[in-house]
Amino acid sequence: MVVIAYLLGSIPSGLWIGQIFYHKDIRQLGSGNIGTTNTFRELGVTAGIVVLFMDVLKGTLAASQPYLFGISASVNPLLIGLFASLGHTCSIFDHFHGGKAVATSAGILLAYNPELFGVACCFFIGTLLLTSMASCASIVGVSAMFIIALCERDLILSIVAGLLTVVIIWRHKSNIGRILTGKESMVSFGLGHYL
Ligand code: G3P
Repeated sequence: MVVIAYLLGSIPSGLWIGQIFYHKDIRQLGSGNIGTTNTFRELGVTAGIVVLFMDVLKGTLAASQPYLFGISASVNPLLIGLFASLGHTCSIFDHFHGGKAVATSAGILLAYNPELFGVACCFFIGTLLLTSMASCASIVGVSAMFIIALCERDLILSIVAGLLTVVIIWRHKSNIGRILTGKESMVSFGLGHYL
């Protein structure tokens, strides 16, 4: 299950969609990230939606394996799903490079606890509307997940969410630098343009 999760997570959706359908290397465009935001930005809405769907699905499928095999009582889906996020950030299909793990981590949470996924999405969307920055929304979304996990006293979720929060913040260090200097890319909607 761990190997399947890693291989699923490794599928570089943004890279392959760009190469196959647009004859472009997303790594050479915009922020250089292979994730949903940069795909929306550089390849358009259709490609962005497909990549979002695929990246979330990778995490959901990976974390769903214990349920599918009927062993979720003894194997926590989050611990398996974690390897999908590892694959997304260190992809075997992209020389062990990869994305920032936001959508794939959201997919893991969707498989484990859809209600909590909904709450994390609310934090993400709220922050996106307020700041117009997907990076900021991603950091707030995953941090909210971690704080909620602590409040609910779910030990495994707290550990996994804590790890994902550290990884996602680390992967966003260039974004954080741009946020602090007022140079971060903004989406075309939201209050961020006026603040
Ligand atoms: O999910 C990635 C997003 O938070 C930031 O993407 O392309 O602006 O670095 P990007």
